[in-house]
Amino acid sequence: MGATGSGKTTLVSLIPRLYDAPEGAVLVDGIPIRQIPLNVLREHIGFVSQETFLFSKTVRENIRFGAPDVSDSEVERAAEISNILPEIRGFPKAFDTMVGERGLTLSGGQKQRTAISRAVIRDPRILILDDALSSVDTDTEEKILTHLTQVMAGRTTLLISHRVSTIRNADEIVVLHDGGVVEQGTHEQLLRLNGYYAELYNKQLIEEELEKEA
Ligand SMILES: Nc1ncnc2c1ncn2[C@@H]1O[C@H](COP(=O)(O)OP(=O)(O)O)[C@@H](O)[C@H]1O
Ligand SMILES: [Mg+2]
Repeated sequence: MGATGSGKTTLVSLIPRLYDAPEGAVLVDGIPIRQIPLNVLREHIGFVSQETFLFSKTVRENIRFGAPDVSDSEVERAAEISNILPEIRGFPKAFDTMVGERGLTLSGGQKQRTAISRAVIRDPRILILDDALSSVDTDTEEKILTHLTQVMAGRTTLLISHRVSTIRNADEIVVLHDGGVVEQGTHEQLLRLNGYYAELYNKQLIEEELEKEA
């Protein structure tokens, strides 16, 4: 986590090698990523970026993109995990509804959840969610995270968020500021540190309280 412009997107972009870090700086399972063929590396990474992108195709084709052989039930399961299944079922032609320019316009949160479905259906070893929950409300976010807990088991998930509530249960939290790591540890460790993370946390607690009162 970290403020806008602190370097979160840049840091995770080093993993699928959208930017190259110095030789030996980034390892996956102890192996320098430059020793892994690029297509193999990327095949095992599911990346949901801040700017979600949908094709002018059906909902099903959008979710299945990159995994053309998956069954309809797998598409539904991915939609369920991303907490968008009931909404898709409510669309005029459900999974066969056209979206984008020539079809139904999805909300920002629906686009993000479609993009998450697209990433999880490929069953990646490494899942990267770069502010992918920013357009959904806190309730929807919690539901997605609950479903994702099952998906995250047995794989590595990198979750980027400016909301402490999203990342507080992570095994390890890395706090960025001005392009560098300033704090690192579990939620409890970072609270005890009483530094930048603790300050953000307390600020957000107060904001949430105010929202509830409003
Ligand atoms: N370690 C770094 N050193 C120098 N510039 C950086 C570093 N990390 C990020 N930047 C630059 O800072 C800007 C914001 O970074 P970005 O990764 O988009 O931040 P965030 O995702 O946290 O909002 C970008 O222009 C990026 O190139
Ligand atoms: Mg970013």
